[in-house]
Amino acid sequence: MPGNHGSGLVRVYPDLEALSHAAATLTVHLAMEAVAARGRFGVALSGGNTPRRAYEILGQPHFREQAPWDRIHVFWGDERCVPLADPRSNARMAREAWLDQVPIPRDQVHPIECSVSPEMAAAQYETLLKSSFGRGATGLDLVLLGLGEDGHTASLFPGTPVVRELTRWVAPVYLAEPGLNRVTLTAPFINQAAVAVFLVAGPAKAGVLHEVLHGPYDPDRLPAQLIRPKSGELLWLVDREAAAELG
Ligand code: 6PG
Repeated sequence: MPGNHGSGLVRVYPDLEALSHAAATLTVHLAMEAVAARGRFGVALSGGNTPRRAYEILGQPHFREQAPWDRIHVFWGDERCVPLADPRSNARMAREAWLDQVPIPRDQVHPIECSVSPEMAAAQYETLLKSSFGRGATGLDLVLLGLGEDGHTASLFPGTPVVRELTRWVAPVYLAEPGLNRVTLTAPFINQAAVAVFLVAGPAKAGVLHEVLHGPYDPDRLPAQLIRPKSGELLWLVDREAAAELG
């Protein structure tokens, strides 16, 4: 059931499994389209739990055999500053669920390296992005995003200074609770993307999803509202439970 909620197109699926299949299918479709048009496909991945199943599906034979892996470049929307082996690492999750299962060239997979300071990690990642997307080039072809119960997306958390960032493409974020450094793409860079897709599932997200889509614009409190691609598309893939309050 698609519906246009002003801040993007909302598609509702019966459950996480259906949503994940739709996300995987859309990712490969956009990859094939971008490769046909521009010879390459740049995608930024979300962390969190919701996309895990979509990543697993992308690693299965049906998709493994059709995606143009040699033309796909993978980036991350955000990273927790933990060692790569830590279960909280977004790069580790995507590698285990998806990237280790497909023949994508290793030098086209670009995790955010947090072993230096968060400031340095952000600066290095911005340099990397500028080498791919700077000088008038278009932004990412696809950014996958999640939605936190507090309205955050990527590592754009309510009340943190990065929510007001206007120029940097990548920034460090410190969260006092639980005392973790993170590095995140900023809204100005995400909004250069051709397509931004939120994956939102489960009853715990129903209230915040309704607020983000239908509440007053208040990005300090609901940073997910910052995501509005300038000349691209915004899509919400949500399951029935998360859509419960959308009416
Ligand atoms: C992260 C994320 C974050 C995530 C949301 C939703 O690294 O934590 O990228 O923005 O997408 O917190 O997470 P869930 O899908 O686990 O609810």
